[in-house]
Amino acid sequence: MSNAMRVDERNLAPVNEARDWTPASWKNRTAVQQPVYADGAALERSVAELHELPPLVTSWEVLALKRKLSDAAEGRCFLLQGGDCAESFSDCNSSLIANRLKVLLQMSLVLVHGLKMPVVRVGRFAGQYAKPRSADTETRDGVTLPCYRGDIVNAPEFTAAAREPDPRRLIEAHTKSAMTMNFVRGLIDGGFADLHHPEYWDLAWVEHSPLQDEYRHMVEAIGDSVRFMETLAGESLGSFNKVDFYTSHEALLLNYEQAVTRKVPRHWGWFNLSTHFPWIGMRTAALDGAHVEYCRGIRNPMGLKVGPGVKPEQLLRVIDALNPDNEPGRLTLITRMGATNVEAELPQHLSAVKAEGKRVLWCCDPMHGNGETLASGVKTRRFANIRAELDHAFDIHAACGTRLGGVHLELTGENVTECLGGARDLTEIDLARAYKSTVDPRLNYEQSLEIAMLIVRKRGGTPALPSAK
Ligand code: PEP
Ligand code: CO
Repeated sequence: MSNAMRVDERNLAPVNEARDWTPASWKNRTAVQQPVYADGAALERSVAELHELPPLVTSWEVLALKRKLSDAAEGRCFLLQGGDCAESFSDCNSSLIANRLKVLLQMSLVLVHGLKMPVVRVGRFAGQYAKPRSADTETRDGVTLPCYRGDIVNAPEFTAAAREPDPRRLIEAHTKSAMTMNFVRGLIDGGFADLHHPEYWDLAWVEHSPLQDEYRHMVEAIGDSVRFMETLAGESLGSFNKVDFYTSHEALLLNYEQAVTRKVPRHWGWFNLSTHFPWIGMRTAALDGAHVEYCRGIRNPMGLKVGPGVKPEQLLRVIDALNPDNEPGRLTLITRMGATNVEAELPQHLSAVKAEGKRVLWCCDPMHGNGETLASGVKTRRFANIRAELDHAFDIHAACGTRLGGVHLELTGENVTECLGGARDLTEIDLARAYKSTVDPRLNYEQSLEIAMLIVRKRGGTPALPSAK
């Protein structure tokens, strides 16, 4: 055991294990958003098999992330959480994984440089296979089938066979998550994040951006800093090749989450070892529901989505359930109000949480409150609204004396055309060109980097942002 680990164990407050809790106690509560499996015995076989498979993450990584999130809550670092709305089994391939990692790393370097603080990087990947849906069924041309709930449950094609929930998919999701994780770990250990790699800074996108001068200036400044440090040290700084990366997914499919909940030899309590950072979605955040019951008993740091319509009193009670000991780093509140609601909805939560002295990290998800369906039936989000919610969130926090310590984004490293606007001002016509998401529309590579730069401008206090598209 390393020194860091011993220190961590000593410093942790003596938090009690959750009372009257087992990894299966969620079954005594109402579990919404769960599929109905026709073959109960097959489900049990898959869950039993999953239970024996090795975990994807370790308890010490999970606890290390918790410490970093506690730092972010105190303003000593910034959380960047991002990735696909939902991963799909067919997208488990090297170029998609590498490109997604690349855009997240580049965004994080923009943030490190601009905010002058470390960034904690958390991918929405290696397990983001389950999706909450607004309806249990979908009807097309008079035919009604179960809805698509993500590749861990069923397949998106509109046929009865594809939509039948299949418990073998639990194993396939775990396997694909392991492959993703393995590749990400390999890339990072192998120097993928090395600032010296010329291919690392792909500048083509900036030619279309009003932010191009600023971006080029920043790339040069980072290069200068690295060279300066190396001159000073008289050697190449190996640690510039290494960054930490953590994973997250929505803890939605409770049979899966239960099967990956483990005890470990050197730490007390239970850990979800399929991911570092599970979160509870908007639709499953009921105080007396199964998801809050499951999550309260694990030691992972976790996220909780907070959307419009939630009352501060409700939120405070869920915070009490998930973090009764007010442990720093344990809980990240991910607000997703929408650009038009954020000014009316966010301040009450900030004041209530602050007044009760709850220790939380505030993070803004400017994606999920800003979805819209065009007349053509296409689901999209406007870059201007995404940006406006983020902008407002920073201002509202400043006015309330709280701190916005992170951002949660749906993005991809590909040049998809799913969100309208951005530097290239994508229009409705462009959407048809490269719309690939089977669920929510994502920021593409350029739009993601633009958001990172806009955060820096906002936090750095630079006035007047270029006009929104
Ligand atoms: C999501 O993050 O993909 C999601 C469904 O979010 P929310 O729970 O905030 O709606
Ligand atoms: Co989504």
